[in-house]
Amino acid sequence: MSGKRVTDYDTIADDYDARYGLYDYAGVRETLLGFLGDHAPLAMLEVGCGTGHWLAEVLARLTPAARLTPSPYKGGDAPSPSIEAPSARLTPSPYATDDVRSPSIETRSAKASAERHLLAGVDLSAPMLARARLAAPAARLVRARAEDLPWQGGTFDRIFCVNALHHFADRARFFEEARRLLKPGGGLLTIGKDPHVDQDSWWVYDYFTETREIDKARYARVRTLRGEMAHAGFAWADSLQADHIEVVRSLADAQRSGMIAPSFTSQLTVLSSDEFNQGLERLRAADAAAGGELQLVTDFKLYATVGWV
Ligand SMILES: C[S@@+](CC[C@H](N)C(=O)[O-])C[C@H]1O[C@@H](n2cnc3c(N)ncnc32)[C@H](O)[C@@H]1O
Repeated sequence: MSGKRVTDYDTIADDYDARYGLYDYAGVRETLLGFLGDHAPLAMLEVGCGTGHWLAEVLARLTPAARLTPSPYKGGDAPSPSIEAPSARLTPSPYATDDVRSPSIETRSAKASAERHLLAGVDLSAPMLARARLAAPAARLVRARAEDLPWQGGTFDRIFCVNALHHFADRARFFEEARRLLKPGGGLLTIGKDPHVDQDSWWVYDYFTETREIDKARYARVRTLRGEMAHAGFAWADSLQADHIEVVRSLADAQRSGMIAPSFTSQLTVLSSDEFNQGLERLRAADAAAGGELQLVTDFKLYATVGWV
């Protein structure tokens, strides 16, 4: 097996959020919130929102009252489990506000805040979206493809994409869609690895040896991303280091934490069972050679690339 492999998120949705108990991703959070800015009334979209971890972070950053705003899909009016047809392009409206029942100062403030913000999330996986609905109930969630986004042009001020771009089947098409959906002055942020710089040290690459080449096939260099954004019509693009994940754990601790499992990271999910089992054997052999004291090193960077309209 080689080339670009596809991760089936439907099968790992239950375990996906375990990673957020293991790493803080403070740099990703800071980069994302900085990109969204503090004050402006914004229409924001996360593409490949998964379980809604970052949507919840953004909601927490809006005024506390804004978090009380009911979801447009409240009461079982969930998004269709089928992918929206392109002809059914949505015209998103700000959060529904007429469900607010008690006219307290807090809820009046929630209405005011809600009227100023739209936060939407798109994902291909229905099980991932089901979790996002719990994590970020005030966000508008839609099942759709990144390459065919069901909104009218010029809807959003900011679009963001965290650790998801390398999963999209057609990145160029996604950049065209993002460019179409952005208002003048709007921006697109993507955050992810760049395995081409060859500076990462990661136990996953060391012991599950196919994963490094698999990642090189599915992640683009950040300079390639900037070129593709320019090609899609973004006026300019820039890249910067968003995070540096640096952790050392014993194998025993990693096993207890559920890290030695296909669901832990998509690099392991896409392996065949033979490839995964061979990686386990390498880990066991290295642990025996280290007298049962094997340390697993995670030391890699995440890069942000931002394109502006
Ligand atoms: C690694 S997860 C990232 C989730 C979230 N952004 C986070 O950082 O926790 C990647 C997500 O991209 C979604 N995805 C993959 N291909 C997609 C596509 N073509 N369109 C929309 N979502 C897609 C997957 O279903 C998955 O939920």
